[in-house]
Amino acid sequence: MTRAVCPGSFDPVTHGHLDVIERTARVVDDVVVAVGNNISKNSLFTPDERVEMLAEECAQWSNVEVTLFGGLLVDFCAAHGIAIISKGLRAADLSYELQMAQMNRQLTGVDTMFLPTSPQWAFVSSSLVREVATLGGDVAPFLPAKIAARTMARVASRNAGAADDV
Ligand code: PNS
Repeated sequence: MTRAVCPGSFDPVTHGHLDVIERTARVVDDVVVAVGNNISKNSLFTPDERVEMLAEECAQWSNVEVTLFGGLLVDFCAAHGIAIISKGLRAADLSYELQMAQMNRQLTGVDTMFLPTSPQWAFVSSSLVREVATLGGDVAPFLPAKIAARTMARVASRNAGAADDV
């Protein structure tokens, strides 16, 4: 049985992420979507909120589960019998993703499978979504409807809090 992990911050999960999760679920037996906390990023949602939102979106695929992870991804893979890290690849990410894939393989031998991002989502990233939403742009085209609503609500409450601080 082949088990893959789709790791990420998913803050918030986008159509691009779900496209990669779905395509991974078609080529392996089991997919674990692992929600990490990238400490270098200023997050919009807590890790638990991201797991909850992803679990709802991924409920449509019977071989996909969602969980939190901390520490090294390779240690998570070893602990969960995961042989493959599956990632979507945008052109701009190549050099960093390649570096992480090679480091992970060097650490424990776990390999990475890159799926080219579908062209319609190639420019979408969670960090751009957060920026556009925070500055009042429409992010609904890039997110599932419920995620878009929660993102806009969270941004609105944050912006209101920031205005109170002035
Ligand atoms: O969606 P992101 O923010 O690009 O996801 C990044 C993530 C969480 C997949 C990456 O930061 C990661 O793998 N973190 C776990 C810590 C780790 O293993 N670091 C060494 C990478 S070679």
